[in-house]
Amino acid sequence: MLLDPRPKTSRNDLFDREKELNELHNTIEKKMPIVALTGVRRIGKTSLLRVFLNEIDLPHILIDARELPPNYGLRDLYSLISSGMSNKTFIEKMRNILKAVKGLRIMGFEVELSWKGRESLLLPVLFDYLNKERIIIAVDEAQGLRGPRGTIFLDTLAHAYDYDDNLSFILTGSEAGLLLDYLGIENPSSPLYGRSIKMITIERFTKDQSIEFLKQGFKEAGVTIPIKYIESITELFDGIPGWLTLAGNTIINKSGKIDLEKIKTQAIEIARKELQGIANSRGKRYALILKSIAQGFNTWSKLKHRLEELEGKTVPKSALYNALETLEKLSIIKNYEFLDPVYKEAIKTF
Ligand SMILES: Nc1ncnc2c1ncn2[C@@H]1O[C@H](COP(=O)(O)OP(=O)(O)OP(=O)(O)O)[C@@H](O)[C@H]1O
Ligand SMILES: [Mg+2]
Repeated sequence: MLLDPRPKTSRNDLFDREKELNELHNTIEKKMPIVALTGVRRIGKTSLLRVFLNEIDLPHILIDARELPPNYGLRDLYSLISSGMSNKTFIEKMRNILKAVKGLRIMGFEVELSWKGRESLLLPVLFDYLNKERIIIAVDEAQGLRGPRGTIFLDTLAHAYDYDDNLSFILTGSEAGLLLDYLGIENPSSPLYGRSIKMITIERFTKDQSIEFLKQGFKEAGVTIPIKYIESITELFDGIPGWLTLAGNTIINKSGKIDLEKIKTQAIEIARKELQGIANSRGKRYALILKSIAQGFNTWSKLKHRLEELEGKTVPKSALYNALETLEKLSIIKNYEFLDPVYKEAIKTF
């Protein structure tokens, strides 16, 4: 179903994205070591990744780095990787190789990895074993690997890049700037410095594509929706497939009854929670900056002035500069503009 709210796993349910899928297929056929798949939230990264992994006939490990706590430790990392390896197809294809790895135990269709003690298994050693087969290692929202122990995976990645020709890594990131900072290919102190990464960016749908996507989705679900509503939904959500899907799915669940205001409120509420998370972890100033930008303070001097008014104190240039840079790296704004219109509305409710 095109308008199913979960990430898609089959090309039949994926609207368009032929170009990106072909690019992924070509890159992996060429055995490129690292692919970064980026795009704003809800643009379809996980869907593209899962459709692709289902289409290739190669063993793969898929992990979601969003599951790691911010200050994750070795145990969290090993537990995530072992859960990624704990799937039937992977174990069936890899059983003989895995059996030889010291510090790894197979129990049914689950994998146990030792992370400390005499039996402990170093990740580069594990990856050298995996390299005996052509394997894809996919990390969804890989910027989640950042943190005090972030170099463990990065060192492993650098090792695999240099020695494990059979491994390819696909890393997705909705916070593209943070992901690229983490990988640090332009940073001399990063283990990945100077390596090359294939970048694939997923863009939003055009207006026509958005309309076509909704039309096809409603048709498939057997509901008839007047074109004026389809156009209004498209206006609201600026080609972001996740929002279009949410809107479409809500309408289908209500058997075609349309309440645009309610759909809008529902989306704003979701975005609001996400923004609240950012304000909680990075500080209230971030929310004030975003709110000011949403209200039209869209140049350096207007914004600085406004922020100083709101906070009742002078704000050092570097503080504002750093906050803006972080918000760009989080893919929330670019050049004083919101990348997602729903975020722009949501911050106004703060
Ligand atoms: N090309 C597409 N065709 C059909 N549905 C799509 C497409 N792209 C995204 N969707 C739908 O949009 C929603 C978001 O997609 P997905 O979770 O894949 O995006 P994402 O970029 O991984 O999002 P997030 O940043 O939140 O992890 C899902 O409901 C998914 O089914
Ligand atoms: Mg995702």
